[in-house]
Amino acid sequence: MKITVDTIAAMKSRGEKIAALTAYDFPMTKLLDEAGVPLLLVGDSLGMVVLGHETTIPVTMDDMVHHTKAVARVTRRALVVADMPFLSYQVNVSDAVRNAGRLIQEGGAAAVKMEGGRPVVDAARRLVSIGIPVMGHLGLTPQSVHQLSGFRKQAKASEDAARLLEDAVSLDEAGVFAIVLESIPDDLAASVTERVSVPTIGIGAGPHCDGQVLVCHDAFGLSDEYSPPFARRYANLAEIVSSAARSYVEEVRSGAFPSREQRLA
Ligand code: KIV
Repeated sequence: MKITVDTIAAMKSRGEKIAALTAYDFPMTKLLDEAGVPLLLVGDSLGMVVLGHETTIPVTMDDMVHHTKAVARVTRRALVVADMPFLSYQVNVSDAVRNAGRLIQEGGAAAVKMEGGRPVVDAARRLVSIGIPVMGHLGLTPQSVHQLSGFRKQAKASEDAARLLEDAVSLDEAGVFAIVLESIPDDLAASVTERVSVPTIGIGAGPHCDGQVLVCHDAFGLSDEYSPPFARRYANLAEIVSSAARSYVEEVRSGAFPSREQRLA
């Protein structure tokens, strides 16, 4: 059965934890969807883990539409949520409508995600009013990396925590269907989860959220470079792929590949 925003809400009501992962391309999405991951996020993290940028800031609407199309094309069951990239929703509400519309209409996503609290509430409310489900994102919001002076834990001081809680309530009132909480203290994530009506999806925000999300490259060890301390590696694909690539090079050099049978086929 296709997962919808109602399914995600029902999971919170039943106390069933929501497992989300990022996805950016056709083959990985097919595996994750078939494995039963209910929510797939085409994150603008693709700028860093797929396109090799240092931050998510260079990611464009065209990048997001391109990758969202690949993910949506193969997804049969999961809810596909596409990130709105930097400057696609902050300038004005009309831009937000047009750009969210592209992710839904051209990209095939079922929902969009926007970073920030009260400054994006008008855009979130408008999108919801015209039928586009919105996911909020508070705490470490990577598009504000320069303002935050790096990728670091947020809302540790009590006044910042209070502000974040108010932002979460505002997003909830604007009608978002879920809120990502990134890199905030566990007890703050617990308070937000208790206070808002919609599911909270944590990343580096402790165990009290209604769900968790990981960047698939971190979860599967697809990169041997930096991975955040809160991530857990469920596989080491980087090692498997480099060892396979070394074997291939060796066999081409030695003439073991293609084999005699393959050459005759
Ligand atoms: O871009 C992304 O992948 C995200 C997740 C880390 C929540 O926003």
